[in-house]
Amino acid sequence: MSGFDARDLRNACGSFATGVTVITTRTDEGDHGMTANAFMSVSLDPPLISISLDHKSRMRDRIRTAGRYAVSVLGGEMEHIAWHFAGRHNPDLSAILERRHGLPVVPGAAAIFLTEVAQEVEAGDHTLFIGRVTHLERRPEAEPLLFCGGRFARLAATV
Ligand SMILES: Cc1cc2nc3c(=O)[nH]c(=O)nc-3n(C[C@H](O)[C@H](O)[C@H](O)COP(=O)(O)O)c2cc1C
Repeated sequence: MSGFDARDLRNACGSFATGVTVITTRTDEGDHGMTANAFMSVSLDPPLISISLDHKSRMRDRIRTAGRYAVSVLGGEMEHIAWHFAGRHNPDLSAILERRHGLPVVPGAAAIFLTEVAQEVEAGDHTLFIGRVTHLERRPEAEPLLFCGGRFARLAATV
């Protein structure tokens, strides 16, 4: 790196406003969920999406074991759910996940994708999991939760 450090890189990437998702999967150890904003649409035909997981996350090994994962796109009123699945456990939310075709998901999410892992790409200290979408749900009226500059936000009213 020249002229910048990891914090500069993270801050610059934080200028890119994103939505917020909860990645979920299920193994013999049970359900597991993790908040993530590194979500991307990849291909329409075949239907592919991608997530990027830190090598330090427990989710990385869980998805390797399960071979599949779900993505729940959080709505604007779901900031407390984002914190819960980002390591700030909230006992009130411990039973929040519902099941779709054997995978846990966040009920009421703006969109839900169920996927099977199609490709795993090692990229520095993260692993990209490209998933083939096998099922999706959408709540078209849902307003999204946003993340930018290290903060959660909601859409301003549009005219
Ligand atoms: C808004 C937000 C977005 C995040 N995005 C990601 C991400 O895309 N990838 C990642 O590996 N961690 C991300 N994290 C951090 C994980 O949610 C956090 O480290 C979590 O506790 C890891 O869970 P696990 O180790 O139990 O799987 C994000 C956290 C927040 C609050």
